[in-house]
Amino acid sequence: MWFRVGTALLALAGSLATAQELAPWSEQVIRRHVDMATLAGPLDKEQLQVLAAQGEVLFTGRFTTADGAGRPMATQAIIPTKRSRPVDAAFQRLAGPDANACSSCHFEPVAGGAGPFTANAFVSEGFESADFDTLDPQFSNERNTNHLFGAGLIELLAREMTADLRRQRREGQIKARDGGEPVRLALSSKGVDFGHLVVDPDGTIDNSEIDGVDADLTVRPFSQKGVFASLRQFTINAMNSHHGMQAAERFGVRWTGTPDFDEDGHGDELTPGDISALVAFQATLPPPGRFAPDDAAWRDAAARGEVFFSAIGCAECHRPSLPLKSIAFADPAPFDGAGTLRTTEVETAAVYDLALLAWATKLERNDAGDYLVPLFGDLKRHIMTDNEVSVFGNELLAQRFVERSVFITAELWGVASTDPYGHRGDMTTLDEVIRAHGGAGRASRDAYVAASEADRSALIAFLQTLKIEP
Ligand code: HEC
Ligand code: HEC
Repeated sequence: MWFRVGTALLALAGSLATAQELAPWSEQVIRRHVDMATLAGPLDKEQLQVLAAQGEVLFTGRFTTADGAGRPMATQAIIPTKRSRPVDAAFQRLAGPDANACSSCHFEPVAGGAGPFTANAFVSEGFESADFDTLDPQFSNERNTNHLFGAGLIELLAREMTADLRRQRREGQIKARDGGEPVRLALSSKGVDFGHLVVDPDGTIDNSEIDGVDADLTVRPFSQKGVFASLRQFTINAMNSHHGMQAAERFGVRWTGTPDFDEDGHGDELTPGDISALVAFQATLPPPGRFAPDDAAWRDAAARGEVFFSAIGCAECHRPSLPLKSIAFADPAPFDGAGTLRTTEVETAAVYDLALLAWATKLERNDAGDYLVPLFGDLKRHIMTDNEVSVFGNELLAQRFVERSVFITAELWGVASTDPYGHRGDMTTLDEVIRAHGGAGRASRDAYVAASEADRSALIAFLQTLKIEP
């Protein structure tokens, strides 16, 4: 890939940091770093493709100690955290580093895809947690690798939803102040309800009735739990946790006082430009499609199954589509926190206009001109267990402020390509994972269980058309 786009990349990044020329047989993935200065404002189609191709190199490259892989003196934690004693082993299956390429796990059916059970990751609470070398679920939650197709559209939906919810809060505050009385307002975006807020005239906010989103009203679409806001933030976490490759924008001098926080002899292992390339690769991955079976019986069953899916309430959470106003992806993102490059830290954010890509022309649009993102999700978290059906209650650790039994609705686009199922990847069939829905999913699950064999089978026939087609 590098060689195919090599000349164009050089053209884009004439000012790339001059790296010393490496021998073709060098055991190093990163041959030159992407310079952030080359990424300001809208990229044209060729620039975007070249940047995404470099992101693919970084996503599929198997990092070596010569690149700075490994973190002898740093833990997997999201906030830069030192280990108490150095660790020399290159790999550790649990607290990591557990792999040396993103695509070691995200590879089904191609790079950027999902992962089998063998590629599960052991996720700790995350922010300051210590090392763990045990499978005891008291120390980590075991998660299956989800796919990243359409991830740019997912992040864009979340950004627009966050903006909507925050605007509603601001309007409520103004109304309460002007009216001199408490205001109870309904939070909702793109037809998805997020509970209520009560605002007092003095601006005090009662968050207790918020539903399915954090109290800061930031919609965090990523991870099976729904606790990460942006691809940029996730990528920096993943690079450190899985590979011991530390991004300068979090682990560098500015936040830690040293370019080599993990003390492996390599400073500034990933530049902000490298992270941008990784974001561009993920954000431009096409959304999974609808596969049209040749088999007439399958086509027929799928059509009936799709109707049944809505009729029994699956579509209340797995929304067939959500409307998106703009598909121009600004990077850095508007709602990131410290330690992930922020809009305020660059002069002009780069813009990856997804409309430049061939797949974008296939997105349906509504009368208002919005793009309809066919995700089969709602970007909202739900309680998924109850006293009788508690299969999803298999984690012992809450994450961030989110209870153990609460998970974000899995987007079902691509689901036919990403077995095994469930957040732990421990169910081999769609039938099993549907039957595992308790809590808020219980009523539609019960309707599925009570339905005729023919209706259940039709529903599976429908889900089996939601494929990632490379
Ligand atoms: C050891 C396996 C493994 C490796 C290596 C890995 N991932 Fe993941 N990835 C996962 C798992 C497991 C999840 C789900 C995590 C969760 O729910 O907490 C995930 C989730 C994600 C998500 C969120 C997707 C979503 O829709 O919620 C992104 C983005 C992501 N990974 C990017 C990366 C990048 C970039 C790299 C390389 C730096 C990488 N991953 C390396 C296993 C892996
Ligand atoms: C209350 C919201 C809600 C309803 C209603 C609901 N689901 Fe889900 N669904 C979820 C959540 C949340 C998950 C993720 C569960 C987990 O693994 O943690 C999920 C996961 C799934 C998965 C597994 C995806 C994967 O990649 O592992 C499938 C398949 C699925 N749902 C199908 C259905 C069907 C079919 C129905 C209707 C019978 C339904 N769901 C109703 C919220 C819902």
